[in-house]
Amino acid sequence: MKAVLASNNKHKLVEIKTMLKDKIREIYTLKDMGIEIEIEENGTTFEQNAYIKASTIAKLTGLPAIGDDSGICVEALNGEPNIYSARYAGEPCNDANNNKKLLDKLHALEAKTGVVNRKAYFQSVVVLCYPDGSYISGSGKTYGQIIDEYRGTNGFGYDPIFLSDELGKTFGEAVMEEKNTISHRSRALKDLLQKLNSEKA
Ligand code: IMP
Repeated sequence: MKAVLASNNKHKLVEIKTMLKDKIREIYTLKDMGIEIEIEENGTTFEQNAYIKASTIAKLTGLPAIGDDSGICVEALNGEPNIYSARYAGEPCNDANNNKKLLDKLHALEAKTGVVNRKAYFQSVVVLCYPDGSYISGSGKTYGQIIDEYRGTNGFGYDPIFLSDELGKTFGEAVMEEKNTISHRSRALKDLLQKLNSEKA
């Protein structure tokens, strides 16, 4: 199968390409296809936003397209920033400002209540959409804690402040191969692949 990735996020492109390479023979990026597009993510769930991205690109290219939407959900903040993770601190979208806003909010809660629950999870939904609009989706989560310091320089987004329960280190300290073994995106992709395989069976 050939497919197009409906994303311009370089880190996600590498992660998704690496994980799907055995199943999808040729994966093109938007850049490969000469497509420059801003897709408005106006859904209210990860799945709706992933579908909006994948279906827009599938219709535009006539090829199956893969869209993903992901974010971090923090228990003490009632699940914030959720689908707003990329733009949490407003424009311009910036990882440093997003991380700072999250830590500031937790500090404010801590100052008010004395303790703060730092449990959080990343969620990813990956949608494979065909040009006719039909689709298959996969979902994955990975759990951890938000820590008060920045640890590690790998990855992107909230990686340096997310201490993974399973790895015992932050995603910023983990190398990509390690992160891929337990990440929300790898779990969403595995879920998607399982559904694809059972559809073909
Ligand atoms: P999306 O590109 O609309 O899916 O936005 C996802 C946002 O969630 C990113 O910009 C990051 O802020 C955050 N995010 C999603 N996955 C990860 C991850 O694996 N590590 C760190 N941050 C992530």
